[in-house]
Amino acid sequence: MTVRIGLIGAGRMGNVHAGCLKEIPEAKIVAVADILPERAQTLSAQWNANAYTDYRTLLDREKLDAVYICTPTGVHAEPALAVAERGLPFFVEKPLALTMRDAKRVARAVERARVLSCVCYHWRYTNAVIKAQEILAERALALTAAQWWWTLPPVMWLRDKDLGGGQVVDQTTHLTDLCQFFGGDVTEVYAAYSHTAYTDAELHNWDGYSLAFKHTRGAVGSLRCTYALFKEIADYEPPRVDLIAREMFLRITPTELTVVTPQDRQEYRNEGAHHFGVNRAFVSAIEQNDAAYIRSSVPETLRSLALTLAANESARIGNPVNLDRFIEQAKP
Ligand SMILES: NC(=O)c1ccc[n+]([C@@H]2O[C@H](COP(=O)([O-])OP(=O)(O)OC[C@H]3O[C@@H](n4cnc5c(N)ncnc54)[C@H](O)[C@@H]3O)[C@@H](O)[C@H]2O)c1
Repeated sequence: MTVRIGLIGAGRMGNVHAGCLKEIPEAKIVAVADILPERAQTLSAQWNANAYTDYRTLLDREKLDAVYICTPTGVHAEPALAVAERGLPFFVEKPLALTMRDAKRVARAVERARVLSCVCYHWRYTNAVIKAQEILAERALALTAAQWWWTLPPVMWLRDKDLGGGQVVDQTTHLTDLCQFFGGDVTEVYAAYSHTAYTDAELHNWDGYSLAFKHTRGAVGSLRCTYALFKEIADYEPPRVDLIAREMFLRITPTELTVVTPQDRQEYRNEGAHHFGVNRAFVSAIEQNDAAYIRSSVPETLRSLALTLAANESARIGNPVNLDRFIEQAKP
């Protein structure tokens, strides 16, 4: 079966996912929408697809099996609601939204329409993560610890905390998602942020972030990240999640999983493009109508978003935030 896809948002990530879809024989992009007509036309020309400037017109006119939503974060919820209302499955970039209210509106629509959904927490689909799950099995974790040393985001709107949510919401959500994936739900988070390396005129965002959190299963966790460095830093200090169990250390990076015990050290490398696995899984789920391929549906990842938004709230008020209450308080 050919999976007919409409893609909304032909910017950086729209093109990354389209590149992955080229390697998946059943996938066919039949329509592209972007408010910038040249972006819609450039990408649609590569697929012999139709180009639109309004995604609603695309949804009205095209016969689709699934929709990709790769617009800026503040423009995820409305297209997701429109797509779910039409009973269509969708793939949406992370973070799902900038507020819990919007995220819950989408979750409710997904539940009502009973459509498949996939939020692009693509790390979950890598060999490194799958192997780490196998190795850890039921082993209890003592600590989860994540770090992402980074520079100013290359896409300009992402630099603005009002549009992107800040580094914790936008980028390191991949890492704290894995902390919860392995350590269990987070119950409470405390965060402190700095804004000292750049002036607000240069960067309307925090440039240093420090989080401490508690997992339900007893482990404690932490994240530190920054926008204050330079991109070459990733060659020395790649983004990472460290998982610590009794006499066992695991490190997950974009390229590999390293496992160290008193006896030995093993490395398991990822294969292919980092975003390929999530695309492969989503297309298989649609083609076979089987949700089991998806490891990051909207309901499964709501708490990943909640942790990051609760961290922002904690940094704002200067106190720890209880995650259940934070989620409960948001009215869809
Ligand atoms: N999973 C990942 O690894 C990853 C990496 C980077 C960014 N992201 C996320 O991907 C999303 C997109 O980020 P990006 O870097 O591709 O941004 P981008 O600005 O490069 O692309 C967004 C595109 O959406 C278009 N657009 C805006 N409003 C629209 C609308 N109403 N209808 C149709 N098109 C519209 C813009 O013109 C632009 O072409 C963000 O949510 C971001 O956080 C995910």
